Amino acid sequence: MRILSGILVIYIISTVLFGHLNYVAQGRAHYHKRRNLKNPPPPPSPLVATANPPQVPSDPYPNPNPNPDPAPGNSDSCIFDVTSFGAVGDGSCDDTEAFRAAWKAACAVESGVVLAPEGGVFKINSTIFSGPCKPGLVLQLDGVLMPPDGPEEWSEKDSNSQWLVFYRLDCFTFSGKGTVEGNGQKWWDLPCKPHRGPDGTTSSGPCISPTMIRFFMSKNVEVKGLRIQNSPQFHMKFDGCEGVLINDIQISSPKLSPNTDGIHFGNTRSVGIYNSLVSNGDDCISIGTGCSDIDIQGVTCGPSHGISIGSLGVHNSQACVSNITVRNTVIRDSDNGLRIKTWQGGTGSVSNLLFENIQMENVLNCIIVDQYYCLSKDCRNETSAVRVYDVEYRNIKGTYDVRSPPIHFACSDTVACTNITMSEVELLPEEGELVDDPFCWNAYGTQETLTIPPIDCLLEGSPVVEASFDSNYGC
Ligand SMILES: *[C@@H]1O[C@H](CO)[C@@H](O)[C@H](O)[C@H]1NC(C)=O
Ligand SMILES: *[C@@H]1O[C@H](CO)[C@@H](O)[C@H](O)[C@H]1NC(C)=O
Ligand SMILES: *[C@@H]1O[C@H](CO)[C@@H](O)[C@H](O)[C@H]1NC(C)=O
Ligand SMILES: *[C@@H]1O[C@H](CO)[C@@H](O)[C@H](O)[C@H]1NC(C)=O
Repeated sequence: MRILSGILVIYIISTVLFGHLNYVAQGRAHYHKRRNLKNPPPPPSPLVATANPPQVPSDPYPNPNPNPDPAPGNSDSCIFDVTSFGAVGDGSCDDTEAFRAAWKAACAVESGVVLAPEGGVFKINSTIFSGPCKPGLVLQLDGVLMPPDGPEEWSEKDSNSQWLVFYRLDCFTFSGKGTVEGNGQKWWDLPCKPHRGPDGTTSSGPCISPTMIRFFMSKNVEVKGLRIQNSPQFHMKFDGCEGVLINDIQISSPKLSPNTDGIHFGNTRSVGIYNSLVSNGDDCISIGTGCSDIDIQGVTCGPSHGISIGSLGVHNSQACVSNITVRNTVIRDSDNGLRIKTWQGGTGSVSNLLFENIQMENVLNCIIVDQYYCLSKDCRNETSAVRVYDVEYRNIKGTYDVRSPPIHFACSDTVACTNITMSEVELLPEEGELVDDPFCWNAYGTQETLTIPPIDCLLEGSPVVEASFDSNYGC
C-alpha cells in the first residue's frame, strides 16, 4: 500500500511538472489557425493527473534542423556568410559593416540568408536592418552576436535606446542555434537604475538603455530557436507589427536586472508565442495598447514579474486590448502572476481574455487587476477608466507567496470590471499561513467552482451601464 501510494505521488508530481511540455506540438499547430475563443479545443490539462502515464519528452527544445532548407537547386547562392563580408568574429573587432553589407545583399534576393556561423563571436553596433526586402529573408545566427560592452563603448552617433532593429520587413525569420548576448551588466549598474545609486538610492539623470531586439512596422516575422540573454533593457519588443510567431526561444537575465522585460508588444496583432522559457528581472511578457489576438502557450516564466497587460490609459489616453489567451503556462518565483494594470483616467477597454491551465509556483499576486496603477503614489481618482470585461480564469493552480493576497480585483470606482469567470482556481500558500482575504472592489463575475481561497466579494450580475458607452467602449 505504501509503495503504491508512493508511486501515485511520484506520478502525480511528474504529471504536474512535465505535463505542460506536451503542448509543444499543439502550440505549433495552433498558429495561423483562426482561433475560436468561444469554443477552444479541449486541451489536456497539465495540472490534473489522468489515467494515462505522463509523457515526458526527453528534449523540450527539439531543433532537429536548425539550418534553413533552401529549395533544391537553389542552395548556396542565397547564403550570405558574414565572414565573406569581412566579419572577424573574435569578440572584439567591429563587425558592423560586414553585417550591414551581408544584409543588403541578402535582402535583394528571394529567400536570402544572412549567416553568422557557429564559433564566431560577432560584435556589432546598433543597426537598423530595414526592408522592404525580397520575401523569405532569414538571419541565421549560429554563433554569438553582441553589442558594444556598456554605455562607454557605445558609439556616440548611435541611438542608445535600441540595438538590433528590424524595420519594414515582411516574411522574415530570425533563427538559429546561437546566442544574442546583450552585455547588460554595465547598463544595469548605471546609478540611475533602481537602487544602484549611493546607499541603495536611485540617482536621477539620463537612464536610457537599449532594447536588445526591436521589430518595428513589420509583418509575418518569426523568431525561433535562439537564446537571448542579458539585455541592457527589454529583450524583445514588437511595435506596429502583424503576424508574429515566436517559438522555442530562451530568454534569460538575472532576477535583479532592472527593466529587462522578456517580450513586449505594442500595437501588434496576430501573435503566437510557444514553447519558450523566460527568466528575467521584470515582466515575462507584457502587452500594451493596440494589441489583439495574442496566443501564448507552453511558456515558462520565472523568476520574473509575470504576464502583464498594461499599463494602459496613462495620461487619459485611449487603450484597446482584446482577444488574449494564455494557456498551459508555468509562472514561478514571480512578483505578479497574471496582471492587468490600468491608470485612472483613460478610455477604451481590455476584453476577451482567457487564462487557462496556469501553474503558479511561489507567486506574489497570482491574479491581479489593478485599475489604480500609479508610479508616484499620488494619482487622483478620475471619472473615466479603461473598462475590463469578459475575463476568464480557468484551472489556475499552485502556490502563492503570502506577502500579499493571491487574488486581487481593484476595479475602478466609476467603471466596474464585468463578466469575470473563475473556474477551478485553487491557490495555496507556498509556505506560512493561508491568506484568505481576497480583495474585490467593484468587480462583477461568477465562480463556476468554489475558488481557493474562497472569495465572497465578487458581485453578481452586472452594473447599470451608462448609455453614453458604445458597445465596444470606444475600441
Ligand atoms: C562602432 O562603434 C565604435 C565605438 O564604440 C566606433 O569606433 C565604430 O566606428 C563604430 N562602427 C561603425 C561601423 O559605426
Ligand atoms: C476578437 O475575437 C472576436 C471573436 O471571438 C472577433 O469577433 C473580434 O473581431 C476580435 N477582435 C479583434 C480586435 O481582433
Ligand atoms: C480612489 O478610490 C478608491 C476606491 O474607492 C479608494 O480606495 C482610494 O482611496 C481613492 N483614492 C484617492 C486618491 O482618492
Ligand atoms: C462573458 O464572457 C465570456 C467570455 O469570457 C463570453 O463568452 C460571454 O458571452 C460573456 N457574457 C456576457 C453576458 O457578456
